[in-house]
Amino acid sequence: MPVVAVLGAQWGDEGKGRIVDLLAAKAKLVVRAGGGTNAGHTVINHLGTFKLHLVPAGIFDPNVLNVIGPGTVIDPAALLEEIASLRAAGIDTSNLMISERAHVVMPYHFQLDGLEESSRGANEIGTTRRGIGPTYVDKAARIGIRMGDLLHEETLLSRMTSVLEQKNKVLTRLYNAPADTAIHDTYLRYLDYGRQLEPFIRPIHPILQEALRQDQPILIEGNQGALLDVDHGTFPYVTSTATGSAGACQGAGLPPTALNGVVGIYKAYATRVGAGPFPTELHDATGESIRQVGQEFGTTTGRPRRVGWFDAVAARYAAEINGISTIALTKLDVLDDVETIRICTGYRFNDTQIDTLPSSVALLGKVEPIYEDYPGWMTPTRDARSIDDLPEAAQRYVRRISQLVGARLGLVSVGPSREQVIVLQTIF
Ligand code: IMP
Repeated sequence: MPVVAVLGAQWGDEGKGRIVDLLAAKAKLVVRAGGGTNAGHTVINHLGTFKLHLVPAGIFDPNVLNVIGPGTVIDPAALLEEIASLRAAGIDTSNLMISERAHVVMPYHFQLDGLEESSRGANEIGTTRRGIGPTYVDKAARIGIRMGDLLHEETLLSRMTSVLEQKNKVLTRLYNAPADTAIHDTYLRYLDYGRQLEPFIRPIHPILQEALRQDQPILIEGNQGALLDVDHGTFPYVTSTATGSAGACQGAGLPPTALNGVVGIYKAYATRVGAGPFPTELHDATGESIRQVGQEFGTTTGRPRRVGWFDAVAARYAAEINGISTIALTKLDVLDDVETIRICTGYRFNDTQIDTLPSSVALLGKVEPIYEDYPGWMTPTRDARSIDDLPEAAQRYVRRISQLVGARLGLVSVGPSREQVIVLQTIF
C-alpha cells in the first residue's frame, strides 16, 4: 500500500489542509512531518470549519491515527488549546499521538524570534514570531528540550536550568532584554503541560513500522511550502526546516524508500506571506481582487498575503527537487472572474533568459517574468465535478500548468468544501 507525501509546492498556504482532509479518508495514518504553529490550515468538512496548526488533518476520521512527528516543534499551550477546541466541537482526539522526539517551543524561543526579527531591521524575514526558528536552532545546537522530557521531572529541571542560564546571557547581554528569572514557574507550567499531554506522547517508531508491515496507507503531511525550504528555497527568506519530500520522510520517521508518491499542492495562482522575492507579484486591482475573493489572509497571523500569477519556473523547480508525481491544484474558482490570466514561463534579466530558480534572492528580486496570457473563462466553476464540466478556457489553463510543471493532474479544487473537487487520479 502506498506511502504518500503531500507537500505545499509554492510558498505555503496552498490549501494543504483541505487536500489532506480529503485524502485522509483513505489513509490509516497521517503523520505531520515538521514545523510548528507557524503552519495553519483551514479545513471545511461536514463537521464544520476548523483552523489547525499542529494537529494533522486526519483528526476528523476516528479510523485514522494522527501523529505529530519527530521533526515538528510544539508549543504545548497552543496544542492543548487546539485539542480543547476540537473536543468542544465534538471531535474525538483519542486518535492523536505526539512523538516524544518532537522539540518543545519554550518561552525564550518566542522572545528570541521577536528580538532577532527586530534586530534585522530592513532585512526582516517576516517570520510568524511563533518561536520556530530559535527552537530549531536549539535542536541543531543540541540544547533543545523534547516532548518526552516534559514527562520526567528531573530531566526537565536540569535541562531547563542549564539552557536558561545560557539564554539569559543572550537576552541580557546581546539584546538588552530582561532575563527570564521565573524559571521555577516556567518549569512547573511545562511540567503541567507534560501531564496534560502525557496520554498522547509516545514512541511512534513501532506504530509506523507496524503500519508499514501491514501495508497500511500512510499520508505524510508536509509543512509550509517547497520554496520555503531551508536548503532549496529562497534563502534567507525561508522557514527553518526541510519542507520537501526528503524532509517529509526525515521529519515523519519513515524511510525514503517507503515513499510511493509525492503530491504537490499548487494554488492556481501564487501567494506568499512575509518578506522575500516574488517575481510574479501583483500590486494592482487584479491582485487585490484575487486576495479578497481567495480570502488570502494568514490563518496563523492574519497578515494579508502577497498575491501573484502562477510562476511555472518556481513550480517546476519545486516538482523536480521533490519528485512531485501528482499535482493537486487548488482554488481554481478564485480566478473565475479574472479577464486575462497569466502564467510565468521564464525570467529575463539583462536580456538573458533564466529557466530555473536562481539561488540568489538579489537576482530573483530583479528578474522580469516572461508571461503567457490566457483568456479568463468568466464562468463559475464551483459546481464542476469532472474536468469536462470546466469551461474550455479553464481546461486549457490547468492542462498547461500540468505540462509546464511536468507532473500529472490528480485533483483540482473548485471551492472550500470537501465535495468541491475534480478527481482525475486516484491517489490511494
Ligand atoms: P517562520 O517559519 O515563522 O520562521 O517564518 C519564516 C518564513 O516562512 C516567513 O516568511 C513566514 O511568513 C513563512 N511561513 C512560515 N510558515 C508558513 C506557512 O505555514 N505558510 C506560509 N508561510 C509560512
